[in-house]
Amino acid sequence: MYIIIKKVGDQLKKSTKRIIYSIGFAIFLVSFIGMIYFGYKTFYIEKESDSAIEYAYHFVLIAEEIDNEYWRLVEQGALKAAAEHEVYLEYLGPPKADNVQLLKLFDRMISAQVDGIIIQGAEGQKFVDLAFKAIERRIPIITVDTDVKSSLRNAYVGTDNYYAGQLAGKTIIENTIGEQYVGIVMGRFDSINQQERLAGFKDAIEATERIQIVGRKQSNITQIGAAQATYSLLKEFPSINTLVGTSALDGIGMVEGLREIAPNKDIYITAFDVLPETLKLIQEGKINTTIAQYPAEMGYEAIKLMIDFQQHDVLNKEVFTQTKIVDQNDVNRFRTGELK
Ligand code: BGC
Repeated sequence: MYIIIKKVGDQLKKSTKRIIYSIGFAIFLVSFIGMIYFGYKTFYIEKESDSAIEYAYHFVLIAEEIDNEYWRLVEQGALKAAAEHEVYLEYLGPPKADNVQLLKLFDRMISAQVDGIIIQGAEGQKFVDLAFKAIERRIPIITVDTDVKSSLRNAYVGTDNYYAGQLAGKTIIENTIGEQYVGIVMGRFDSINQQERLAGFKDAIEATERIQIVGRKQSNITQIGAAQATYSLLKEFPSINTLVGTSALDGIGMVEGLREIAPNKDIYITAFDVLPETLKLIQEGKINTTIAQYPAEMGYEAIKLMIDFQQHDVLNKEVFTQTKIVDQNDVNRFRTGELK
């Protein structure tokens, strides 16, 4: 009896040992595979971050307002060129249009000693001084969308804003008859490109007596701002029968503002830019014409030029991107890309 019990006991001990060894082995196997897998992953990530510091250049693009739809298009074009040329592109901008913050970012990027800065030009001596500081430190500067001609920037890439303003004037001369009392909604009074567009517009209509500007207000480059500006313009000057918006969201906001204050009034509207909503409103007959700019092209060309500057010193170059009038006849061809 004792022998039988002992044998069964030994048997049990052996199989328990076997089970423990098997579990031990299984744990070892899982850990080993895990080690190889995670080890590979770590190695792989390291390889990736290795290549992240292999970019040829580090450029910065500073926008008037970081999340503005128009500036996101400039960014898109810049990113495309950056991807084609091994450029690390940093996209920055104030959350709301604000020159003080824009200039702070400019200064900070100069101190960071990046390889090149592409920035919207801003009014005032501070911008000129910072551009000078950057050039002294051999950081090329390209103004994009808005130029500061008095600065030492290496180049400007963007619309000829004076000419674009003239085009806006032309659409009103050609498409309206009789007295026109014009209300203007501008992005910001202190933006150089807005001032240039206004100057071009004024010069274009100067000789046409039946067209005169009666009032202007700023939208702070927001749709809601443009709606409010339109509302107060029409309240103050009920004679207005033409509206001109000189920045990308003004046309959309003007339609919104009109819906509130004068939904049945027949008003001729000229907008700026070809954001999808603006094209839709043209198609619906709520906006008559718009002045097309090419923000993605600006971003793309600015990066290419910045790469050139890394090798050669070029001063005072102006690269004008296209500008054209778009009306209801062009909208579809414009959307499909047939008309560029
Ligand atoms: C102007 C930009 C501006 C944008 C605002 C564009 O028409 O060219 O300077 O930032 O409108 O939406």
